[in-house]
Amino acid sequence: MKRPYLHLPHLALPPWTRGLSARLLLLTIAFVMLAEVLIYLPSIARFRRDYLEVRLSNAHLAILALEATNAATVGPLLTQRLLDHAEASAIAIRAPGQGTVMLMQDRVPNPDAIVDLRDEPWYGQIGDSLRTLANDEPRTLRVIGESSKAPGVVVEVLMREAPLRRQMIGYSQRILALSIAISLITAGLVFAALQMMMVRPMRRLTDSMVAFRADPENPATAVAPSRRTDEIGVATRNLAEMQSGLLGALRQKAHLAALGEAVGKINHDLRNILSTARLVSDRLTASADPYVRKTAPVLLDAIDKAVELCSRTLEFTREEQPAPRRARFGLRDLVEEVVAGLAPAAVGTRWVNDIDPALQVVADRDQLYRVISNLARNAMEAGAGRIAIGGARGEGRIAIVVSDDGPGIAPAARERLFKAFAASTRRGGSGLGLAIAREIARAHGGDVVLQDTGPGGTRFRIELPETEADAAASSAQPLSQRAVS
Ligand SMILES: Nc1ncnc2c1ncn2[C@@H]1O[C@H](COP(=O)(O)OP(=O)(O)OP(=O)(O)O)[C@@H](O)[C@H]1O
Ligand SMILES: [Mg+2]
Repeated sequence: MKRPYLHLPHLALPPWTRGLSARLLLLTIAFVMLAEVLIYLPSIARFRRDYLEVRLSNAHLAILALEATNAATVGPLLTQRLLDHAEASAIAIRAPGQGTVMLMQDRVPNPDAIVDLRDEPWYGQIGDSLRTLANDEPRTLRVIGESSKAPGVVVEVLMREAPLRRQMIGYSQRILALSIAISLITAGLVFAALQMMMVRPMRRLTDSMVAFRADPENPATAVAPSRRTDEIGVATRNLAEMQSGLLGALRQKAHLAALGEAVGKINHDLRNILSTARLVSDRLTASADPYVRKTAPVLLDAIDKAVELCSRTLEFTREEQPAPRRARFGLRDLVEEVVAGLAPAAVGTRWVNDIDPALQVVADRDQLYRVISNLARNAMEAGAGRIAIGGARGEGRIAIVVSDDGPGIAPAARERLFKAFAASTRRGGSGLGLAIAREIARAHGGDVVLQDTGPGGTRFRIELPETEADAAASSAQPLSQRAVS
């Protein structure tokens, strides 16, 4: 199943935005624009301040020109021209130690707002700038500030706000255009870099994973190892290693499966041949020759063991254990049956069924019989004088403990205990009992573990989930998360 990289149903984005690169492209544009806004606010405030300072210094210049004429009064024409030059409707200058010089039109409008450049904090400047931009009514400003050319001289100007606003809008539009250009260029570059450095290698990785999953036995689907030193290189190398490991394991598994099938067939025929031999040999016990009569049971026993070995191997090489057919039943009765099945073969062994009659389990009864019987038979075959089977419930699991007072497990067998055909130290033992027991328990979502062993005896524990739901949950775990011995 193909899945989008990130599932955000509530956003309902168009399909082209779902790729990693498209998202990064949009994010980059958004981030650059955000950065531009942060830069824009102080710069528009600076622009306004510069504009006002130029107005003040022009006003100062106009007054200086006026003073140079040395005339007591100035004609209305000159006044108007000087004011036009300064783009003001009134100008006043106060120099320390001198009076106030004023220049104004006949009708001076009342100021709508006062801007004092001498003590305006930065946030005030930003706020005033935004107010100017937002206000499209014709306003008159009274601007006060020190002349930049002559410190100490305070210049006051009455001026219209509209030209300032026009210039600020023009400036903002230029900044906006520039921001868009910068963000597109940056986003384009980020997009290209990410596409090359991340998205394409990631896509190669995911493509290889998908292809490998579909056809794991085809070496061509494995990813080529990368020489990159970054995270993607590490991921690629690990994936390549994992794929080659899996490929090896799969090949081995295929060989083993073929081998198992062959062994199964041979066993099947062998068992039939042995059954015939058994039938024929049965009659030897009735032979007239006392020597033949005496050796016949040994021969029969040997044939029985061979048949048993064949059946068990057949069982194991069958592709898989059938899925457990779970039912709820009392454990004590089951253990009673196991003991009844084994006891006749063990003369002098004391069997103890310690299971609480109220203890119930949810499992496949026949399969659990085989598990307990395998463990108990091992104890019996090890020569235990007392074999006890107990059970307890706790933490959502049921533990069934089979303990004996036998000689303990030989160190040689201990390491490969649950490996099929590997652990047997017993003559005539196939080394399948524990492997089968564990396989069945794991199919139930549980396990079989060796609790302890030593000269004083051995204890194996069968663990089962308490309810069917637990069993389904734990047997649904991927194989890799379960301990595999
Ligand atoms: N309770 C026990 N005490 C001592 N040794 C044990 C005990 N249980 C298992 N073993 C050792 O572990 C080995 C493996 O046991 P497993 O049941 O897998 O195979 P097996 O009994 O040899 O053959 P099979 O059960 O297939 O006939 C045994 O051969 C035995 O040496
Ligand atoms: Mg056994």
